[in-house]
Amino acid sequence: MAKVKSKYVCQNCGYETAGYLGKCPECGSWGSFVEEVERAGIKNEPVADIIDSTLPMKLDEIKTGSEIRFSTNISEFDRVLGGGIVQGSLVLIAGDPGIGKSTILLQASGELCRQNKKVLYVSAEESAGQVKLRAERLGVKSDNLYIYPQTNLELIKKHIAEMKPDLVIIDSIQAIYTSLIQSSAGSVSQIRECCNSLMQVAKSDNVSIIVIGHVTKEGNIAGPKVLEHMVDAVIQFEGDKYKSHRILRSVKNRFGNTSEVGIFEMGVNGLNEILNPSAIFLKEYSQTQTPGSTIIVTNEGTRPLLVEVQALVGTTPYPAPRRVANGVDTGRVLQILAVLEKRIGLNLSKHDVYVNVIGGIDVDEPAADLGIALAIVTCVRDVVFDLSTAIVGELGLSGEVRAVNHIEKRINEAQKLGFKRIIIPDANEVQEKYKGIEIVKVKRILEAITRGVRAVKE
Ligand code: TYD
Ligand code: MG
Repeated sequence: MAKVKSKYVCQNCGYETAGYLGKCPECGSWGSFVEEVERAGIKNEPVADIIDSTLPMKLDEIKTGSEIRFSTNISEFDRVLGGGIVQGSLVLIAGDPGIGKSTILLQASGELCRQNKKVLYVSAEESAGQVKLRAERLGVKSDNLYIYPQTNLELIKKHIAEMKPDLVIIDSIQAIYTSLIQSSAGSVSQIRECCNSLMQVAKSDNVSIIVIGHVTKEGNIAGPKVLEHMVDAVIQFEGDKYKSHRILRSVKNRFGNTSEVGIFEMGVNGLNEILNPSAIFLKEYSQTQTPGSTIIVTNEGTRPLLVEVQALVGTTPYPAPRRVANGVDTGRVLQILAVLEKRIGLNLSKHDVYVNVIGGIDVDEPAADLGIALAIVTCVRDVVFDLSTAIVGELGLSGEVRAVNHIEKRINEAQKLGFKRIIIPDANEVQEKYKGIEIVKVKRILEAITRGVRAVKE
């Protein structure tokens, strides 16, 4: 019998030690070590047994075929994947429990089956009956869709080899286990081993595999970061469970653009694509005209998106004022507050500041700075910012407004949604002539405020 050895593995980052540690030296998390038992000596084959079928070759000698992709007919999903599912790829879809991962993949499976593709849906968490009920609700019917309730990886691999499907869905990676390791399903070693093994199946059998992964409380892809670098693409499914829209975001993609997003709405019959997302994010804006809210044009992947930013500033009851940011980085808000204090004399040391991006979307580009700054300023001065003006611009530390990328795309989107005016950095060159939208170029934060306030009075 193979020797049994045990090790302690950090469940957050996968760091391994021989003895228990309270704090992980790698990722700094506390109490994350769990003992895992592993049979030694089974992992790697002896060199003599490995078939030496590939040789080092010159770059020029390598022949490339164009990658084969299949479209799921769900255009938002295809776009996030970089134009459909690539044959022989392993994709991870990660998100909070209950966000809709099983739903979207069942819908995508239904669409692929309609194109006569064979799909194997491994349901490791739910019974076949539960999946069938969901499929009925979603209107998915097909002879080519096989539901397989199974948690053992070896059996799953056996059926993949026999069935030769075009696409395999593993729902979820945390629920399956390989008999090669003794630790329980969901542990770091199991996840790593299963993922590795699936990657080999994907490459050797040229079958596309999508694995679902749940996200931990801290927001890591559970079991962890170890999964992220193994797979070809990582797609995050985000959104507020209590609101209906959901955002699919590509965070890593070996076959396409990253930071691409797809937007959906969860309805009674599953997820529906939202083809004009800005209109959804702005739906409530036109009805609420309150001080402290502005519209920014942010760039999500290859697509501009208009979103509302709200700021609330009030005198603080606490010894240290609070700064809370939702949807934007708190550090960024602190920097903007410092610039406002130093450059326009706005002292908020006795005030709490809350900044919120409406719609549960995360804005992490500096082009949102100017919009956030103006939301704060209009809230402090208790004036309403002009409803028909959108804002883009990065705020420099000396109070200057800096150029942003893709300016024309952003202007086009604002124009398309009926905005009459857009405040942009003076440093941005605009070649095109726009009709129906006035372009206001500003150099400094103060100029943006005065022109914005003038916009209110008009
Ligand atoms: P699910 O796909 O099971 O989430 P996950 O696999 O990410 O855990 O989706 C669960 C939620 O979606 C559940 O709360 C019910 C809701 N839902 C709808 O609102 N409409 C639908 O048509 C379906 C199938 C689910
Ligand atoms: Mg599920």
